Amino acid sequence: MNLFEKKSLERIIAESEGGKHHLKRTLGPVNLVALGIGAIIGAGLFSLTGIAAADHAGPAVVLSFVVAAIGCAFAGMCYSEFSTMIPIAGSAYTYAYATMGELLAWIIGWDLVIEYAIGAATVSVSWSSYVARLLHKFGVELPRALTHCPWDEQAGLINLPAVFIVVAISCLLIIGISESARVNAVIVLVKVTIVVIVIFVGYSYVKPENYVPFIPPNTGVMGEFGWSGILRAAGVIFFAYIGFDAVSTAAQEAKRPQRDMPIGIIGSLAVCTVLYIAFSRVLTGMVPYRTFHGDAAPVATVIALFPSTTLQTAIYIGIIAGYSSVILVMLLGQSRVFYSMARDGLLPQVFSFIHPKFQTPSRSNLIVMLFTATLGGFIPISNLSHFTSIGTLLAFVIVCIGIIVMRKTNPDAPRPYRTPLVPLVPILGVLVCFAMMAFLDSMTWVRLGGWLAIGLAIYFGYSRHHSHLRLAVKAEAVKAQKAP
Ligand code: ALA
Repeated sequence: MNLFEKKSLERIIAESEGGKHHLKRTLGPVNLVALGIGAIIGAGLFSLTGIAAADHAGPAVVLSFVVAAIGCAFAGMCYSEFSTMIPIAGSAYTYAYATMGELLAWIIGWDLVIEYAIGAATVSVSWSSYVARLLHKFGVELPRALTHCPWDEQAGLINLPAVFIVVAISCLLIIGISESARVNAVIVLVKVTIVVIVIFVGYSYVKPENYVPFIPPNTGVMGEFGWSGILRAAGVIFFAYIGFDAVSTAAQEAKRPQRDMPIGIIGSLAVCTVLYIAFSRVLTGMVPYRTFHGDAAPVATVIALFPSTTLQTAIYIGIIAGYSSVILVMLLGQSRVFYSMARDGLLPQVFSFIHPKFQTPSRSNLIVMLFTATLGGFIPISNLSHFTSIGTLLAFVIVCIGIIVMRKTNPDAPRPYRTPLVPLVPILGVLVCFAMMAFLDSMTWVRLGGWLAIGLAIYFGYSRHHSHLRLAVKAEAVKAQKAP
């Protein structure tokens, strides 16, 4: 039986309709855009903007945000087409199963763990540092041993606040999607308000001389300023855009997925792109870009210029709340991908168990919680963040290729949303996303290789022997042999 056995579109849709495992369809377009924004604005904007400006692009970090947005827009259009054709849980994993077969579907499902679980862990570590700073403002010092992992520069024992936030949000997800979406919508409102306040209040502190030179000359080292620096910074701040694709993992919970998925995906991406460009423009205008060197909290640095300490505290709280919603959507996406993989037999059935009362994949949520909390508690943020970016970019590349394949293999399938200019748009998506991968460091590539090797071992050791699709194909073959 071949490794590239594909699931037919009809089979995927039929499986999602029947069976005892059901998810509730409760999300409308506003919930979906909120879900996207909730996943997108977070540690990338509030931590990496300053570092990217100081070390790679200077005030031209604005252009890096544009480059990364272009890559995401191409991929976003491809995600939209897939999510309206196959409006069920599982996102890129399910799309790959339909277009490129089981082995690639497994690879992408495994790869999505990097984006969602490791992405959530990354943000939880950053969340912890902002909470520590806020408490410090009020004179409360958390012990270093409990806010840093053993491998941090300031070695500690465990990053306890990071563990705490992952556990708390996992409990929310177990209680139920519609409750979680409501909480998320409130957090998103607060977060966007905070970003808008920083843009408008910060604007009056902008000094035009901070924009000169707009593109600082290259130092002679690749990636340090000049155009190569702008591209390098695009790879770094790409992390800030991760999350819009998480909307597609909720397709099976959308009331009208055909209309609402493109609105959720492209809408949230567009809103964030505008906010990011304005935000990074103001940030780099308020202080000289070099001020941000080694500063993981550039927002704290610039809002120190604001006279009102109440406003400063409110901004801190908004940022902390904003991080919570990023973690929420990532953990939601991760449990949904595992749910889909388990329904296909590629993972043990514990991942597709639906809680009888809450109607959520509660055991999947619990397992994801243990994994993510352990990473957040014990791994430094630098190791987590680049790994998240490369894993996500790989998923984007595979989804873009999948659109081209699907147009050839299923040309007549209904496509409520069509990616424009195929194959040009998906090809450009592949090129831009691959270029951003290429700018990441070699250790990150080694980690990606190691992760995929572990994934393949699990596939050949467990998943291919339990795959429902392969068992069904085998049964049909036996029946055909027995038939006279
Ligand atoms: N885009 C998300 C963030 O920046 C992952 O936190």
